[in-house]
Amino acid sequence: MSTTIYFFTGSGNTFKVAKDISAQIEDTKLIQICKDNLSITSDTSSDKIGFVYPVYATGIPWMVKKFIENLKINKDTYIFSVASCGTNAGISVNQIDDILNRKGTSISASFEVLMPGSHQVMYDVPSKEIQMKCFNDEKVQVLKVSESIKRKELHKSNKAVGIKKSIDTFLYKSFFNPSDWDKNFWTTEKCNGCGTCSRVCPANNIDIVDAKPQWKHQCEHCMACMQWCPQKAIQYKKKTLKRGRYHHPEIKANELYKRDSSNMI
Ligand SMILES: Cc1cc2nc3c(=O)[nH]c(=O)nc-3n(C[C@H](O)[C@H](O)[C@H](O)COP(=O)(O)O)c2cc1C
Repeated sequence: MSTTIYFFTGSGNTFKVAKDISAQIEDTKLIQICKDNLSITSDTSSDKIGFVYPVYATGIPWMVKKFIENLKINKDTYIFSVASCGTNAGISVNQIDDILNRKGTSISASFEVLMPGSHQVMYDVPSKEIQMKCFNDEKVQVLKVSESIKRKELHKSNKAVGIKKSIDTFLYKSFFNPSDWDKNFWTTEKCNGCGTCSRVCPANNIDIVDAKPQWKHQCEHCMACMQWCPQKAIQYKKKTLKRGRYHHPEIKANELYKRDSSNMI
């Protein structure tokens, strides 16, 4: 009765949720969705498959989309999704279900877990109180979600409908554009070329050239580079100059370094 959880993460929030769920369910393998693992194109042996992902601009990160589109899955596999989000799952469940429908299957159960918002280009780091509330609620939510998954319960309540679906679809298409979004990242004089940004980037989008990061325009918007920089030297335009940085306090940067599937739990 094996379970495989495929997760994508930037600040470590979603990794924490995926890790905590995997700790509750026996015989579970955790695999990070990242550039190095895009060669995984089939999972016909897991009894249950989970996609644990952050919500970006109301939807799923592109890499998660590409990964699920490419993954061959048996039609009778129990498939669950868990959105880690600042406010709500937006159209992410609709998007995953649409991809699965095209493969002749569908999500069996979808859940969401609220985590501190990680988009410091848009807003400052949530207060310590809000963070603590999220972390405490996450523990409770993870137990509920894990129990549902163990019992293979069917649960699909958080799809967007009506006007919310239309607005979120508009937002996703308008504001979530890959190309050269990362051209606005820059480093202050504090950058010492340590390379952490390059190692935590799930898209392998950063090279260190002359001891400075160089972004290669395949950015997933996950903010990992900016959030994990030990010197807090990475900025986005002038928007982040006065803002704090956030990564999940119980995740360490080096847990995101070795992301080849053979190194995962
Ligand atoms: C580029 C970006 C866009 C985001 N958009 C949304 C959103 O539309 N709705 C929402 O609830 N949270 C949004 N968030 C917050 C994240 O979904 C949330 O903080 C999540 O836990 C991040 O997980 P991760 O750091 O593991 O990727 C956004 C975060 C980022 C970085």
